[in-house]
Formats: sequence, structure tokens, C-alpha cells
Amino acid sequence: MNLDKKYKLAVVGATGLVGSTVLKVLEEKNLPILEYEFFASERSCGKTISFMGKDYIVKKLDESSFNNHFDFAIFSAGGDTSKKYSPIAAKSGCVVIDNSSAFRMDPCVPLVVPEVNSEEIFKHNGIIANPNCSTIQAVVSLKPLDDRYNIKRVIYSTYQAVSGAGWKGILDLENGSKGLEPQKFNYPIFNNCLPQIDVFLDNGYTKEEEKMINETRKILKKPDLKITATTVRVPVINCHSESINIEFEKNFDLEELKNILQNAPGIILQDDIKNCIYPLPTKVSNHDEVYVGRIRRDYSVTNGINLWVVADNIRKGAASNAVQIVEKLIFKN
Ligand code: A2P
Repeated sequence: MNLDKKYKLAVVGATGLVGSTVLKVLEEKNLPILEYEFFASERSCGKTISFMGKDYIVKKLDESSFNNHFDFAIFSAGGDTSKKYSPIAAKSGCVVIDNSSAFRMDPCVPLVVPEVNSEEIFKHNGIIANPNCSTIQAVVSLKPLDDRYNIKRVIYSTYQAVSGAGWKGILDLENGSKGLEPQKFNYPIFNNCLPQIDVFLDNGYTKEEEKMINETRKILKKPDLKITATTVRVPVINCHSESINIEFEKNFDLEELKNILQNAPGIILQDDIKNCIYPLPTKVSNHDEVYVGRIRRDYSVTNGINLWVVADNIRKGAASNAVQIVEKLIFKN
């Protein structure tokens, strides 16, 4: 793309938790974007958003929203809105970066984490999918290890923050501490752990677990990877934590493996058990890197390792990843 050009970008779902974080990240990055428009549902139509020192009026998203050409649109307004409006936007010549799960497993849609598979970005047909928040942080840590030791099997166990369920998820935790009934989750999240994220499938897994499994295979380009997942909602406001157990084809040296992670793009190593240093949601919140610690051999298999991986699910798990993709499209690197 032409660097002298100033681009036009739409944010769909601008009033949501992810959408408003997209605006925050855009302000921080200050990309060469000249014009912005912000869309949400009818409920928010006419609301004012302060952005980059200017007031913007939120518009209601409809079929004509993309009539005046946009270069990019970041969608964070749920799967149904994406299914209906992303193709309209793409048809108008706009590149859509979609945060929903609507197109992630479509073979014609790249599923991108820039640190992992940025080469996929330019293969788009108008829509690029942002992976699920839990998948993003996992594959950032898996990719450099797969390149070196060839991953054979993965076991995910997640501890996911309520912010992953939007404003209503956060409200359920806050209200729960005051003894109020939940509105978003099936059960109180305060003082609790819910071993269900999204709906159950016929095979007994949840949709969140299925997303992690299928998206990891697609992003790592390992369709037959042996992988399983248990995803759990925990009473943490922000940042998903994951215990990741990995089995490799090749043997590894623990110090070399730590060095690989330390030097990998987008990773911060926090692994100093003598001083009780390891990644914590409260410390990682508001950062874009994926934090990795508690790295230790799994002695129950031949070439196994355990990792503790924490990232800001709203930033790296959604908003920042989407803006990074826009950045790559603009600067073509
Ligand atoms: P609104 O605030 O007007 O409801 P969250 O996941 O944090 O609840 O955010 C969801 C976002 O998606 C909000 O910005 C919400 O707008 C937006 N949204 C929901 N439904 C639609 C729709 N049909 N068209 C456009 N935006 C929508």
C-alpha cells in the first residue's frame, strides 16, 4: 500500500469492551489514518466518543454504512453482525478484520496472529479473521517451539477472565461480590470457577474448547495435531491464564528452550522461581506481550514441557492483534 496515502477506517462495535480498546490502541499507535467512523447498534446511535482529541458521533450500522469507501473495518460486534455486514464491507473494497468466530475456520479466510503467521495476511479476499483470545496467546508461545522441536501433542487448561464475556461479564463479577444474581453467566462467577465457556457441543466439549483446538491447528498449519482443551471461567477481571502441556517429537535442552521463548517475537519471559517470579493477570493487564513462566519438564513423557502463559485477552487477545494486522496491511511488512 502507498505510504503517502491516508487511510479511512471503520470500527464496528465501537462502544463495546473490545471496540473501545481498539480505539485506545489506535490512539497509542497513531497510524497514518485520516478518517475514522464508529458504528454500533441502534441503542448507541448518536452517542459521542472522544477520540484523538475530537468528538465522534456513533452511527447505527446498516446496509449502507460502507457505501462511502473505507480501506479497513475492525468488527467487534458479535458473530451475527459480522456474518451479515462483513461481506457487504468486503464487497465495497474494504478489508475487514473480524474479531468474531464467524469466518475463522473458512479456508478462504486467513486466521492471523502477526507474530506467528503474518505471511497469511496478504492472502485475504476482503476478510481477515482475528483468532479467539485464548488461541492467540497460546500460539504465540507454541510457534517458536514448534519451529525448533516439532510439537506432537498439546493439552490446554485455561483460567479465563470475565472481560472475555464483555461488559456484562465484568458486571456479573462486580455485582456477584455484592450478592446479586448473575445476568451473563449461568452461575455466579464471584467465588466460583465455571467449567463452561460458550455452549456445549454433542461431543461434550464446549465451543470455546473446540475453537482453541481447531484454530491452533489452522494457525500452526498442523491439521492433524493431537490436542485437547478444558476452558474455565475464573473470577478475574482481565487477562487469561493458561497451563499448556506440550509434547515434542524432538528432545530439548531446557535452557535452550527458555532462550528460544525469550527471543521470540511478542513474548516476555517471567520465570524466576527462586524469587517467586511468574506471570500474573494483575501485572500483565494493559500490556500487549504474552508472558510465559513456570517452564519445567514434564517427567511423565519423553519430551514434555509445562508452561504458564498469561496475556491481556482484550488487548493482545482481540484489540491489539486486530490493530497490528491493520498496521501490517498499511506498512506491508
Ligand atoms: P451497542 O453498545 O450499541 O449495543 P460487548 O461485547 O462489550 O457487549 O460489545 C458489543 C458491541 O457490539 C457493542 O459496541 C454493541 O453496540 C455492538 N453491537 C451489538 N449488536 C450490534 C448490531 N446489530 N449492529 C452493530 N453493532 C452491534
